[in-house]
Formats: sequence, structure tokens, C-alpha cells
Amino acid sequence: MLQVDEVPVYQPVLTANPYQPHLARIVRIYKMVPDNYLFTLRFLDDDLAMSFTYRPGQFLMLSIPGVGEAPISISSSPSRPGVLEICVRRVGRVTNALYRLKTNDVVGVRGPYGNGFPIEQMTGSDVLLAAGGLGMAPLRSLVWYALDNREKFNRIVLMYGAKNPGEMLFREELVSLVDRTDMTCLLTVDADPTGTWQNHVGLLPTMFDHAELDPPRTYAAVCGPPVVYKYILERLLKLGFSKDRILMSLERRMKCGVGKCGHCSVGYKYTCLHGPIFTYWDAINLPEMI
Ligand SMILES: Cc1cc2nc3c(=O)[nH]c(=O)nc-3n(C[C@H](O)[C@H](O)[C@H](O)COP(=O)(O)OP(=O)(O)OC[C@H]3O[C@@H](n4cnc5c(N)ncnc54)[C@H](O)[C@@H]3O)c2cc1C
Ligand code: FES
Repeated sequence: MLQVDEVPVYQPVLTANPYQPHLARIVRIYKMVPDNYLFTLRFLDDDLAMSFTYRPGQFLMLSIPGVGEAPISISSSPSRPGVLEICVRRVGRVTNALYRLKTNDVVGVRGPYGNGFPIEQMTGSDVLLAAGGLGMAPLRSLVWYALDNREKFNRIVLMYGAKNPGEMLFREELVSLVDRTDMTCLLTVDADPTGTWQNHVGLLPTMFDHAELDPPRTYAAVCGPPVVYKYILERLLKLGFSKDRILMSLERRMKCGVGKCGHCSVGYKYTCLHGPIFTYWDAINLPEMI
């Protein structure tokens, strides 16, 4: 069986200088949750805007002139070309500078980078997507890719958990998936102070009680903060998921994004090249990966 990092991936759109970003305009800023905005970008070059393709799970290097760069997952799906969507949490220098920009301002984008999800391997299987918090940012690309290419996958089950309804990313969009008959969308919040939430209340792992999974024929894509990995992995292993069918999106501090600087190395692997998607098998065999 092919390992995640052996599957061919989309290569970055190269310029003479691989570090030179392409200019992209911010065409929409959607304030999803305080400090977690969705930015829609379009390359100034129309040909590039339409030809730029990527794999769900890949990331780009976003640059703000005069400030710096940060790796950010692509949250849109390659099945919907023309624009790129990124969900950005305001935490530091680059993200604060991005939040000061307005619609029509221009940013730099290079990529796509990383391996992305092994779509060829996953084709024909059931797919479980399990995310907590900001983990929905990379998984949202896979959700829409799978729904837009429905014939490629068998069952699609999405489990997403947030602290409360006000902090659920992509809330309206995800709630609209709950009634779809071609997938199972399980949304949960730890607590509902408003009393108006119409979906599940409980910690993310309790969604396994509603998922009716068939582990031997399922790939699980997991992304979220460490606590999500801890409890979701525990449940997946208990259910009998094989370690190479559990795919995790893992983050490390990055500088170049292209395998040159060594900032993101874990053991003999570079997260920017061989990741950010790793199988659980890879992750337990690399020092300090999880
Ligand atoms: C593959 C990948 C995908 C990602 N996808 C997303 C995404 O979709 N959305 C998103 O919002 N984020 C994403 N991130 C995380 C994002 O890249 C980081 O949060 C990034 O650091 C933000 O840049 P910044 O300049 O705003 O923050 P920074 O100024 O780099 O600060 C980030 C955080 O690190 C702390 N910090 C700063 N310097 C140091 C240091 N030297 N040592 C320890 N801590 C330090 C800061 O206090 C702050 O809490 C992704 C990261 C990776 C690797
Ligand atoms: S970020 Fe430079 S090698 Fe990965």
C-alpha cells in the first residue's frame, strides 16, 4: 500500500524565485467567530486564479508585505476553482496584520505546499472526518471535495465539536449539511448557554455513538487541538481502526515551507514536505510528533 508521502501531490506554482509570492486580492472577509475570520482570496492574475489547483489538506504560505509569512491551510475545495478560502485565527504578527487589512487589499500567496490527504487511497472507502475547533480549517476542504465528488467515496461521516454554538466555525454551512441524505453530519457543542442549539450537546467523542462506523472499510481524517487527538485516537483504536487508515493533520513551526530551512523537521521528516498529513503509524514512529 502507498504511504501518504508517496502519493503524487500538486506542486507549487513556481516563479523564478521559489520564495516569491503571487499577489492575491482579499475579495471577502467573513467574520465567522471573533478572532476566526474566513478570508476569500483571488489571484490578481486571472489565468493563475483559474489554474491554481491543490489537494485537500495542503497549505499555503500567506505573506503580508513588510510583516512576514505564516503557513495557513486551504479551507476551500479544489473542486471550486477561482478563489481560495482561508480560515485564520488571530494569534501573532502576521495574523494580526491580516486582520488590519480590508476587502480589496492585496496579500502574497505561495504554494500549495505539503502532501495533502491521499485521495487516491481513500477513493472507494468510507470516510470519517473528525475535527475540533480550528481543526475544521483543513478538513472543510476535504468535506466539500468529497461532496462535490460524491461518486468517489462510499459513506461520508463528519463529526465536529466546538465549545459552544457561538464558537463553531462554518456553523451555518455545517448545520445545512445535517439534513443531507448523502452524508452523516454530527455537530456537537460542549455546552449550550443559549439553549437554542438544535444539534448535539456533549464532548466530540460521544458522537461515535451515532456514527455507525465500519472500521475496516473507513479512512479517518482527524484534526484539532491535542485533546481532540488524544480522545479521538483512543476511540478509533478501540474500534479497531488500523493505524495506517488514521490520517492526522499536524502542525509544526515553519519558515520556508519548501524543505530547505529545517525548522519543521521531526526525526528524518520535514512536516512541510512529508506532512502536514501523517498516518497515525507515521506519527507514532517519529519522535515527539504527537
Ligand atoms: C501546516 C499548517 C497549517 C496551518 N493552518 C492554519 C489555519 O488554517 N489557520 C490558522 O489560523 N492557523 C494555521 N496554522 C497556524 C499558523 O501558521 C500559526 O498560528 C502562525 O504562527 C501564525 O502566524 P503569526 O505571525 O500571526 O503568529 P506568531 O507571531 O508566529 O505567533 C503565533 C503564536 O506562537 C507564539 N510564538 C511566537 N513566537 C514564538 C516562539 N519563538 N516560540 C514559541 N511560541 C512563539 C505566539 O505567542 C503566538 O501564540 C497552520 C500552521 C501550519 C504549520
Ligand atoms: S519549513 Fe523549512 S524545511 Fe519545512
